[in-house]
Amino acid sequence: MKEHDITFTVNGREHELTVESRTLLIHALRENLGYTGPNIGCESDRCGACTITVNNRAVKSCTMFAVQADGASITTIEGVGEDGEYHPLQETLHEEHGLQCGYCTPGMIMTAVDFLEHNPDPNREEIREALKGNLCRCTGYQNIVTAIDSAADKMHGVGQMEGDD
Ligand code: FES
Ligand code: FES
Repeated sequence: MKEHDITFTVNGREHELTVESRTLLIHALRENLGYTGPNIGCESDRCGACTITVNNRAVKSCTMFAVQADGASITTIEGVGEDGEYHPLQETLHEEHGLQCGYCTPGMIMTAVDFLEHNPDPNREEIREALKGNLCRCTGYQNIVTAIDSAADKMHGVGQMEGDD
């Protein structure tokens, strides 16, 4: 089996690893490097549990070979918060009860991180459209949509009074 030496950063940290041609990125992240935040559901592009960002775009990491990520900048759920603080999406999913078992949640958040980056003030229909590749068996989606809507407001200071910290 052919092997490749590759390098990429995950959450700002550089990693060098050797992978087989067939190694999926989700397996390299979880098994070679210990990033177990992205989950494995279907391994066939259907559930979105494995979603991460690669060069700031949401990607289902079971649809990509690790060698294709050579040189890339990757973010997983472990890296979305800053300075020990939760990301606004993590806060609002908690506040709005947007999760139950939590298995879909890392992928939902990574999809939403990319989505809000490109559409900072979405309506609920746009949020639902953005989530169409992420399945949740527990929540019925309503509270996830509300949480993303609320995170968009938080990230743009909606509701903050002038002069507030
Ligand atoms: S595990 Fe990747 S889409 Fe389901
Ligand atoms: S919270 Fe259980 S699958 Fe979404």
